[in-house]
Amino acid sequence: MSDTSRMDEAQLSDSMQQMNIRSVMCVPLKCKGEVRGVIYVDSIGLPGGFGKDDLQSLTGLGNTAAIAIENARLYSDLEKLVERRTAQLRKAQKNQQRLQKQLSHAQKMESLGRLAGGVAHNFRNILQAILGNAQFLQMTYSQDGQLQKITRAINESVAKGSDFIYSLLRFSRQEVEKEILPLDLKSVLDETYKIISNTFDKSIKIATKIEKPLPIKGDRLSLCQVFINLCDNARDSMPDGGELRIEAKKDKKAVVVTISDTGCGMDEETLKNIFDPFFTTKDVGEGTGLGLSITHGIIKEHKGKISVSSQPGKGTLFRVAFPVAEKYEQIKPESPQRIRHGKGEKILIVDDEPAVLEGLENMIKSIGYEVDSVSSGSQAIEHYKMHKPDVVLLDWKMPHMDGATCAKKIIENDPAARIVIISGYQETATSKIDAGLKKTIKGLILKPCKVEKLNKAILEALNS
Ligand SMILES: Nc1ncnc2c1ncn2[C@@H]1O[C@H](COP(=O)(O)OP(=O)(O)OP(=O)(O)O)[C@@H](O)[C@H]1O
Ligand SMILES: [Mg+2]
Repeated sequence: MSDTSRMDEAQLSDSMQQMNIRSVMCVPLKCKGEVRGVIYVDSIGLPGGFGKDDLQSLTGLGNTAAIAIENARLYSDLEKLVERRTAQLRKAQKNQQRLQKQLSHAQKMESLGRLAGGVAHNFRNILQAILGNAQFLQMTYSQDGQLQKITRAINESVAKGSDFIYSLLRFSRQEVEKEILPLDLKSVLDETYKIISNTFDKSIKIATKIEKPLPIKGDRLSLCQVFINLCDNARDSMPDGGELRIEAKKDKKAVVVTISDTGCGMDEETLKNIFDPFFTTKDVGEGTGLGLSITHGIIKEHKGKISVSSQPGKGTLFRVAFPVAEKYEQIKPESPQRIRHGKGEKILIVDDEPAVLEGLENMIKSIGYEVDSVSSGSQAIEHYKMHKPDVVLLDWKMPHMDGATCAKKIIENDPAARIVIISGYQETATSKIDAGLKKTIKGLILKPCKVEKLNKAILEALNS
């Protein structure tokens, strides 16, 4: 516009009129065909203030400014992109570090597992030797009250040691054979309470309200692990202390246990994932994220159900329900006096541990069998050929020739041979034993085993 005074007033803005702007020059700031802005220059009081040259200069300036603005925008976009990429990279790096830590933790757990397996084997042999001799004394001096008391105490300690092995194997997450029996869940909860009250920090108050009886069918040690896992999580949710409540009751159909805490609680997102294996919000080394998935598996094996309700900042409640056992009877341990004695049948014991051999020998002799013992597989094969014992009790893990090879060789020689494997290794009691061999042997028992169990296995072998 070269002279606004010649224009229609309606076309002029208020400010133009008030400030007496007479001439105006504008150029668009264009980039890639789009107008991104405008440069506006005006002249107060002077008509025809700008010439062609001015417009040309302003157009040049406009073009340069448009490019500069576009560059600045591109730069800022680029910066944002770099920021985003850096954050992604950092996240990926953290993820990788976490995975690496998890892997090394898993490797540590694996070697711990192997170590635990070895410790368990040795420990079982020791317990077997103690138990064998204690039960021998118990049966030989059955009239001596004082001695009976002592041997009972020894037996109880052996049982505790045996439970300890299970806990050790479970802790290192090894497969452990389960024994589903009718039981009172109260005794499991009492045991859990004993363990946690001895180990949890005193800032955690533990309250219990447990009715009795709570008859269900289950594996005592697995169930104990379920409640320990739930209590461990409750404790971890209350680093500054709080209350942990264990309540249990029975209605017509179910035995219901609730474990609640006043801890940090969980949000929706966490709640969705808690039963997934390896899901954890804890630091590497503090949690594997396996606790609840194992818990869930054990409860399912017991035909039970688990549910959870939680509020962030308020606390969490886990509810576990098991079907009530229909026929519930407290199982009492068999007393050694009630054993059906042998009639001098010949038993051969094969074990490389002299103490185990001696304990087993005493035990089996005292229930009416004739016993021979050897300490290696090759001796066993020779002995079998010469004496044809009625039953062979064969150790699984021996140097030079293991139980499996020895059993195969004896059976090759005499397909009617009655062999019972007696082992300190958990895997022989589970699935890892060769299927063909499993068919030909007459029994499989895990150390430490009491005279009752041993006698039952011998009788079953004899009657087979
Ligand atoms: N009582 C609870 N209060 C708050 N969060 C819980 C509670 N129980 C479980 N969680 C959450 O569920 C996650 C998974 O629990 P889980 O027991 O499976 O693994 P973990 O405790 O992290 O590790 P691990 O049990 O192997 O030591 C926990 O990391 C935690 O975030
Ligand atoms: Mg846990």
